[in-house]
Amino acid sequence: MSLLKLKNVTKRFGGLVAVDHVNMEISSGQLIGIVGPNGSGKTTLFNIINGVYFPDEGSIIFDGKDITALPPYKRAPLGIGRTFQIPRPFASATVKENVAIGAMFGASGGKNTVSQSMGIADQIIDRIGLQEHKDKPAGLLTPVEKKLTEIARALAMKPKLLLMDEAMAGMHPNDIDKMVAHLKQIAKEEEIAVVSMVEHIMRAVIGMAEKVIVLHQGAKIVDAPTNEALADPKVVEVYLGSGKE
Ligand SMILES: Nc1ncnc2c1ncn2[C@@H]1O[C@H](COP(=O)(O)OP(=O)(O)OP(=O)(O)O)[C@@H](O)[C@H]1O
Ligand SMILES: [Mg+2]
Repeated sequence: MSLLKLKNVTKRFGGLVAVDHVNMEISSGQLIGIVGPNGSGKTTLFNIINGVYFPDEGSIIFDGKDITALPPYKRAPLGIGRTFQIPRPFASATVKENVAIGAMFGASGGKNTVSQSMGIADQIIDRIGLQEHKDKPAGLLTPVEKKLTEIARALAMKPKLLLMDEAMAGMHPNDIDKMVAHLKQIAKEEEIAVVSMVEHIMRAVIGMAEKVIVLHQGAKIVDAPTNEALADPKVVEVYLGSGKE
């Protein structure tokens, strides 16, 4: 059974079709990259999966349950975690406290105590490589450290599905490689499906994704194993056609 299934999902903004009849399936523990030029619908699709937007057409099945009409706060406890494109940590709280908040409000549905949540935060922080910063106020972190904290907070929710919207943008290639390695290992061990919506960071896509979905003007034009997808003439055309590398 697939973990996430989108059936014919469409989202319009006025006359613009931002997501156009998209079908896709993601299984547990799968690593997926969603790519496409600016405005191709990646963030909109992300927001449909986590419930920020409701689709105008189509349905979303998560873990066997129809979640199409559920608001975001009811999706997170089912196991849908996310990162924000622009990290917004609680600046005066420490890194560890920020990560612990994920543990409190994630899959546990508010049942983890503060000390249990702090324990989970400690484990994740060690694995992500943020140990030396864990007692610092998050507001003092560099942008990359904030992104790492954001990913750690999302992982602390113990999601079955982790959605990342350009979570690695702005990172140094070495940091991307490290992050990709951490994510792959955690995803395998905890059977977390990771869906990463990325535009430019092909390094992250190639390093991480088993499967790549390519969006163009809201429609899915390719859905294939990574190497095959990136070599597809339609993909080359979409990127060159839009004036991108
Ligand atoms: N809230 C909104 N209201 C109106 N139009 C919107 C809204 N959000 C997105 N759009 C439009 O929908 C289309 C898809 O946008 P979206 O942000 O999903 O693309 P994207 O692939 O994430 O782009 P980027 O690579 O720039 O982040 C664009 O034409 C955008 O202008
Ligand atoms: Mg976007």
